[in-house]
Amino acid sequence: MMGRFITVEGIEGAGKSTQLVAIRECLQSAGCPVVMTREPGGTALGEEIRGLLLAHRDGGLAPETEALLMFAARAEHLRQVIRPALAAGQWVICDRFTDATYAYQGGGRGLPTARIAALEDWVQGELRPDLTLLFDLPVPVGLRRIAQRGPADRFEAEALEFFDRVRAAYLARAAADPDRYRIVAADAPAAEVSTRVKQCMADWMARD
Ligand code: TMP
Repeated sequence: MMGRFITVEGIEGAGKSTQLVAIRECLQSAGCPVVMTREPGGTALGEEIRGLLLAHRDGGLAPETEALLMFAARAEHLRQVIRPALAAGQWVICDRFTDATYAYQGGGRGLPTARIAALEDWVQGELRPDLTLLFDLPVPVGLRRIAQRGPADRFEAEALEFFDRVRAAYLARAAADPDRYRIVAADAPAAEVSTRVKQCMADWMARD
């Protein structure tokens, strides 16, 4: 039996890293074999591409370059990690996937959605996540949280308006496909958000 593919999304500072652990615990306590991975990254080449994408560089990057690098890393990730794990019946939890390309390169950078959809079809074929948890919170709250971390990477250094567009794109995608998405309000202490995550996972697994 094929495994399930769960993706986790949200703007910076949404607390995804902590909540990924809560999701893994839910699945493991239900007896599901879990593989945790992330994008961009998840393979040796993908992590190298991640380094290229997150590094500051004079003149920035064209949105097309950014999107193509994301999908180049994704093609390798699908081939080496995601498809084999699903075929072996494992549950894959992925920290960001193609919804992030729609939100950041589409919403944030203004790349036409149709271009991203063409790449999605080309690289993924029919494969789409079974469930996407969108951690949502007001942009200023997320930005305050990341300001307390180390030096900002190339995305984290973007202006508030960029993240407003990213958040709006995520919410629009979630509204258009309520069957796949669950929106988790993330403007709360981590323990409270974890409780919401566990409830959400329990409900989803019960309906499955
Ligand atoms: P993070 O996952 O550690 O937050 O960092 C990854 C960054 O890459 C984040 O700012 C979002 C960005 N990103 C895109 O812009 N497009 C994508 O398709 C993916 C997967 C990530």
